[in-house]
Amino acid sequence: MRNLINRAQKTLLGNRRKGYTLPTNNKLYPAQWNWDSAFIALGYSYFNLNHALKEITTLLDGQWKDGMVPHILFHDTNTNYYPNYTAWNCGNKIHSSGITQPPILSTILKLILDKNKISNKQTKEVKKIVKKIIRFHEWFIKFRDPKKTGLVSILHPWESGYDNSPIWDEPMEKVTIEKNLKYKRADNKLVNPDHRPLNIDYDRYVSIKNNLRKKKYNPKKIFKSSLFNVVDVGFNSLFLKANKDLIQILNKFNLKSSKISNYIKITEKNILKLYDKKKEAFYSKDIRNKKKIYVPSITNYFILFADLNNDLINKKLIKSLKNHNKNDKYFFSSIKPNHKSFEEKRYWRGPIWVNCNWFIYKGLMNKDNSFSKKIKRKTIQMIEANGFHEYYTRKSAKPMGAKNFSWSAALYLDLVLNKN
Ligand code: GLC
Repeated sequence: MRNLINRAQKTLLGNRRKGYTLPTNNKLYPAQWNWDSAFIALGYSYFNLNHALKEITTLLDGQWKDGMVPHILFHDTNTNYYPNYTAWNCGNKIHSSGITQPPILSTILKLILDKNKISNKQTKEVKKIVKKIIRFHEWFIKFRDPKKTGLVSILHPWESGYDNSPIWDEPMEKVTIEKNLKYKRADNKLVNPDHRPLNIDYDRYVSIKNNLRKKKYNPKKIFKSSLFNVVDVGFNSLFLKANKDLIQILNKFNLKSSKISNYIKITEKNILKLYDKKKEAFYSKDIRNKKKIYVPSITNYFILFADLNNDLINKKLIKSLKNHNKNDKYFFSSIKPNHKSFEEKRYWRGPIWVNCNWFIYKGLMNKDNSFSKKIKRKTIQMIEANGFHEYYTRKSAKPMGAKNFSWSAALYLDLVLNKN
């Protein structure tokens, strides 16, 4: 274990550039990614608090005037990544993508603040960070939920962070592919194409992006006009948790945001409407096509992390979580293996992801502690046997995707070094 702790630290430091950290040291993801950086900051907080805060500050330096924090910041423009900064054609001083990713910064920051004493200088830095996070959350509330339903939409599958999940299959099928679309993917040259999204899906990703670009990413316009608009239960669970954590941080610093505390109340009430009593499961909503989406994705269980105060639902969810892929040596597969969309090796359609396990293990700590510990133990075993990879197969934990993967290293540090 000692040895692996050192390797985790080295992985993060090896992937570190000027004030930010790449998701991996190969060419697959040559930029700063939003939620990766949050996980990475948590990892740094176990051995270098300044690096942790810097990681977050650099990410927030890319915040747009309207409050949005992009999903990618292209600090280095000289890479082969597609879609690169010119394909997005947006950003401020720092080139960026025009969409966002799960807003987990406040959740991570709270964990960091709970376990560290911070200096006066760091307190100043943290206050700046917090103010920017408030603007980010208020941006979500204002522009991604214009009707104030308590649930925010994502306007591109990539905003979810689980880019290629079958949750998006139905809404994606309805997306008309732009005529004469021309672009060159790089990802499927670097990783076995059988493990990456299909070309037809990529055509749709790019068409959705181009449509947003046409509207100049104007947040008022794109809510209605985007070719993709989904209220996802996993994403909303992370946002609910992030709002709750933000309020706790604000209390610490005698700050307030009534917009956010009111929003939490509406979300807590309305997220329950996504629960199907008969199926005993949460579903997501395709807003654009007015359809319910039922896909047994592990991300639906992020609701346990959001700490809904509803014992009955929590119990039912835990019961079905225990059946999610109970016949396999490792868990959790991103999609329930008996579902038609399940694929053993294609990313987000079956393999195990450390960050998903981490949300669920944390969420279960105060609901089923022994199960939570089991998840933690199994996740640690999987990493210790195979190293820090992007994802793993459910049967043998075969390492897949990028190696030296930052968030797997960072979350390993939290799994083995936090005191719970
Ligand atoms: C992939 C993942 C996304 C992640 C990014 C960088 O696109 O789907 O969640 O942020 O890689 O690691």
